[in-house]
Amino acid sequence: MSDVPWSPLSILVLHGPNLNLLGLREPGIYGSVTLDEINYLLEQEGQKLHCTVDVFQSNQEGVLVDAIQESRGKYHGILINAGAYTHTSIAIRDALAAVPLPVVEVHLSNIYQREPFRHHSYIAAIAVGQISGFGVESYRLGLHALVHTLRKSAQ
Ligand code: DQA
Repeated sequence: MSDVPWSPLSILVLHGPNLNLLGLREPGIYGSVTLDEINYLLEQEGQKLHCTVDVFQSNQEGVLVDAIQESRGKYHGILINAGAYTHTSIAIRDALAAVPLPVVEVHLSNIYQREPFRHHSYIAAIAVGQISGFGVESYRLGLHALVHTLRKSAQ
């Protein structure tokens, strides 16, 4: 558990590049749900789980690195869909490893059923776990998994 002194749990949700286009972008792969709808769902789910959920999206690697660094002391855990940076960004992986917060990685699509370059995740090795392939449900399951991990470690 992090050293954040207050409860209830506070979760940071990070969305990487091109996820702002959800709903318009390759709907056959990513579905028709927009990012706003996913964020609303996560905020509602957060209320049911008695945790606060802050959401943030950026198309820029360094901006995501900054957001991860700034999460130290503010949040208990990070739920992340790093988009294409999942497969390329050592900087995001290092930033996640540098903050003492549990990380759950999610993907809408099943990255292992897709092109070979999507089969490797730089984040997976430093995450508590990864959920991939369930569409919007990946986020909901990921939030539950993160909250479960945090509550278990607080016992
Ligand atoms: C994604 C999978 C990535 O390979 C891709 O670059 C994305 C979205 C997903 O949610 O399925 O942008 O992270």
